[in-house]
Amino acid sequence: MIAISLISGDKSTIVFPMTQKFRCIVADPPWELKLGKTSPVDSEAIPWNHDLTLTQLEYPTMSVKELKALKVPADRDAHCYIWTINAHLEATYEIARAWGFRPVTLITWIKSPMGLGLGGTFSNTSEFILFCRRGTLSAKRRVDRTWFGWPRGRHSEKPEEFQTIVESVSPGPYLEMFARRKRPGWSSWGNEVESDVDLGGQGLPLVEQPSPFLLTGQTLSLTGL
Ligand SMILES: C[S@@+](CC[C@H](N)C(=O)[O-])C[C@H]1O[C@@H](n2cnc3c(N)ncnc32)[C@H](O)[C@@H]1O
Repeated sequence: MIAISLISGDKSTIVFPMTQKFRCIVADPPWELKLGKTSPVDSEAIPWNHDLTLTQLEYPTMSVKELKALKVPADRDAHCYIWTINAHLEATYEIARAWGFRPVTLITWIKSPMGLGLGGTFSNTSEFILFCRRGTLSAKRRVDRTWFGWPRGRHSEKPEEFQTIVESVSPGPYLEMFARRKRPGWSSWGNEVESDVDLGGQGLPLVEQPSPFLLTGQTLSLTGL
């Protein structure tokens, strides 16, 4: 395999070309969200949104069409975990199939209620991970549940505990798509992390300074989450 070395400042990153295949992929897509002015947001419900107005997410988003069109560097036999939210559950199954995977199990992250927060009639207190397979890759172990009560992080941040479980279930090599930080033992790809895999030029260029939170205000709400 040919490795391309990218030197950026004092950092040196080995970038693997698209020919590198992964047996385990975790993807946390930048879902498009419907912004609405339908109901007041209880700012207490959104710990990162103190006294501000919700106008925009902190990162660029992608449409379902764009997500489906992504070329994902999966091995012939592989596992894939796709993070999703209520509003995009159906699309997540479509995306999994478009990437060549069989959707298998929906895993739920249960979050404690914090008042009327993001969501529609029912405030969102759960997120989901669609576990998918292709080919015949066996799991390293079975897990005794499909829900987890990991603690909340900052907006969009997913719990590290999840990837610890993934490592115990799925064989590597591991790739995290739409990553925002490096995790030891994983290749990372995204526009807010030094990617060490090249997906054939797909995706946005690296943002050197990830934008600060742009969540502002008390009168807008997110609907359809
Ligand atoms: C939902 S966030 C990921 C959150 C991350 N998993 C965490 O736990 O902090 C989605 C990420 O995808 C990035 N992104 C959006 N559009 C992208 C694109 N076209 N190519 C690469 N990355 C993109 C965003 O900037 C953001 O960092």
